[in-house]
Amino acid sequence: MSQLPSPIAVLGSGTMGPGIAATLVRAGATVRLYDISQEIIDRAAGSYKFASGVLDQLDLPVVDGGEVVFTTDFAEALADVKFVIEAVPENLDLKKKVIADMEAIIGDEVIISTNTSGIPISAMSADMQHPGRLVGMHWSNPPHLIPMIEVIPGEKTDDSAVQETIAIVKAIGYHAVQEKEIAGFVENRVLYAILRECVAMLNEGIVSPEGLDTCVKWGIGYKLSVIGPTRLLDMAGMDIYAAVSSYLNAQLDNSAETPAVITDLIAQGRLGFKSGAGMYDYGPGDVDAKRRDIVAGLVAARKTLSAITPV
Ligand SMILES: NC(=O)c1ccc[n+]([C@@H]2O[C@H](COP(=O)([O-])OP(=O)(O)OC[C@H]3O[C@@H](n4cnc5c(N)ncnc54)[C@H](O)[C@@H]3O)[C@@H](O)[C@H]2O)c1
Repeated sequence: MSQLPSPIAVLGSGTMGPGIAATLVRAGATVRLYDISQEIIDRAAGSYKFASGVLDQLDLPVVDGGEVVFTTDFAEALADVKFVIEAVPENLDLKKKVIADMEAIIGDEVIISTNTSGIPISAMSADMQHPGRLVGMHWSNPPHLIPMIEVIPGEKTDDSAVQETIAIVKAIGYHAVQEKEIAGFVENRVLYAILRECVAMLNEGIVSPEGLDTCVKWGIGYKLSVIGPTRLLDMAGMDIYAAVSSYLNAQLDNSAETPAVITDLIAQGRLGFKSGAGMYDYGPGDVDAKRRDIVAGLVAARKTLSAITPV
């Protein structure tokens, strides 16, 4: 691992901030984790501890010098920072305000990265004093476990900001994927293409939720975790893809609306883990058990996949 810039400020300590901070601290950075209230920061300290424990399970090396500072003091968070990660809620006006506030404090040369899930970088940088320093750095959830980060320049982003962000991704031992600005970015476009087809088939009663999960986990997920989609095309052959896509593509779901199977669940208050029921029912303790199983599965899969020859 190469040297990280330090200190790094992570603004926003909700779902994403604590795991991002734990990953950077493990790799040797001093991280100032900022949020707007002490209550939120206290909760973030618990999430940070949990994420650090998961990193222990991954047996990742600890680089000396890493430290976390929890703070509700904006100026303290940004004093002498060398790099910023913005992880506040997905709202363009809020993000623009936070960026403007920090530009008034930090040095002109400091790169600001945003963890936005899909707001165009160019929209966020429209009123910036130094728009060349804003770059998309899209961590995947949970950020302390998924070792891939999308790096997205906006129209005005300097190449040096892109390269420095990629260097940071590599320094924490993650894979960097550089993209052009596009709605949803690459990872979520692929995920939502899969989910649209899955939900459409549930809506039509083609397959049960259990059958769908088994099919996608073992038929597609297992395979794609070893072979990427372009390598898969090479393996299958372009002629085969052309033959199948020539009749199948026209049959795939391409609706823009959310299907009834989802809106009906929402109407019943079945939102998923957060409400104790969704596609599946959960008894007392079941959601926590499922969350533990997910972490254990991701830890085991990452260790195994990291040990094999990349395909
Ligand atoms: N949750 C995910 O799965 C996920 C995945 C990838 C990217 N993202 C993106 O990361 C960003 C953060 O997402 P999240 O899920 O952690 O959101 P979240 O709502 O869980 O956390 C955001 C935090 O920002 C804080 N905040 C609000 N105003 C602030 C301000 N002015 N300054 C500093 N902090 C402020 C909130 O108090 C909250 O703790 C969003 O842009 C989101 O789209 C989320």
